Amino acid sequence: MSAPDPGFGIYVHWPFCQAKCPYCDFNSHVVRNVDQVTYARALVRELEHMAMLSDPQAVTSIFFGGGTPSLMKPATVETVLAAIDRLWGINQGVEISLEANPTSVEADKFRALAALGVNRVSLGVQALNDKDLKFLGRLHSVDEALGAIELARTHFGRMSFDLIYARPDQTVEAWTQELTRALSFAVDHLSLYQLTIEEGTPFFDLHARGAFTVPDEDQATMLYDATQSICADAGLNAYEVSNHARVGAECRHNLTYWRYGDYVGVGPGAHGRVPKGGAKCATVTERMPSKWLALVEAQDHGLVDQETITPAQSAEEMMLMGLRLQEGVSLKRYASLSGKPVNADRLSELSGDGLLQQTGDQLKATPAGRLVLNKLLGELLA
Ligand SMILES: C[S@@+](CC[C@H](N)C(=O)[O-])C[C@H]1O[C@@H](n2cnc3c(N)ncnc32)[C@H](O)[C@@H]1O
Ligand code: SF4
Repeated sequence: MSAPDPGFGIYVHWPFCQAKCPYCDFNSHVVRNVDQVTYARALVRELEHMAMLSDPQAVTSIFFGGGTPSLMKPATVETVLAAIDRLWGINQGVEISLEANPTSVEADKFRALAALGVNRVSLGVQALNDKDLKFLGRLHSVDEALGAIELARTHFGRMSFDLIYARPDQTVEAWTQELTRALSFAVDHLSLYQLTIEEGTPFFDLHARGAFTVPDEDQATMLYDATQSICADAGLNAYEVSNHARVGAECRHNLTYWRYGDYVGVGPGAHGRVPKGGAKCATVTERMPSKWLALVEAQDHGLVDQETITPAQSAEEMMLMGLRLQEGVSLKRYASLSGKPVNADRLSELSGDGLLQQTGDQLKATPAGRLVLNKLLGELLA
């Protein structure tokens, strides 16, 4: 069987939120009265620059991520999509996703976004429990989240939502109940993340001061195992560490990252892997929205770093991304990029430990391996 085509995606970062959640270290900022016309114009200029930089490709997915892209006015989304269409073309069947917060969606906006071609929404529900939503600093209630799910189901062909688990004091029984309830509202895709305490966030300081504790490793493993089996029983396969979908309903845009395809990233703090002269160019833009805007206005782009990735780096990145996927990575592709095969001794050692599994040309992390992916990669690629 030939390897699936990784596709080519365009990522658009909208860095603004109504409030900053205490656990979040994404590039998101609370700014009142964002001038969306100016911002849209800057996104278009940066897209034009990226199109010039990049070898021609057929776009397979577009992803509005954040921050909170559901705070974008439909006219802003329209301007960005029109530019992508002009520069690359948007064929029928291109996946166009947008991340939405339950507090910033209304029927009119969803209707307008769907009419513009957005065909997939990913909602940040986070919990189906009001006490935990409050703990997570979310502005919505369970009722509002369920209303937003309903609305998204009405307007979009495809809909997913995010939940954060492994919260303080969360038992396997409570999570089982909550996840089972969530599955009754799900269509065909769920993103289920374990709460991580990120440095530089309010949760990091609170956690360090002992204001709350998170499940220890054993408890987290039990919660993870319960997640895998409950979703599998419901027909939502864990196609990636934190992502569950029915076959065919996987997020194509994220698959492009994990299958190590090419993508352009625009907006503050966006990363890209841009195809250039047959190689991959890693791009990063300025994170601070005001500085990014000033850079784009001065030079047509907000790039602060741009470097061609060596084949050896590409091989490592491909392994890093691909082992997140249930389908794994092609050992031949790794060898042809890096110029040498994976170290056979390490491979057999890690397979013997039950962390890796090889089927023909495909190398996969086992469920146990996926739980300790960073450590596993460190050992495999040392
Ligand atoms: C870019 S964010 C969210 C989009 C949207 N602004 C929202 O909050 O609904 C993508 C997802 O990452 C997850 N996330 C962010 N920080 C996290 C953390 N520290 N631990 C676990 N999940 C996290 C949340 O589930 C969130 O919905
Ligand atoms: S989790 Fe979402 S809403 Fe909260 S700060 Fe991060 S990006 Fe913004």
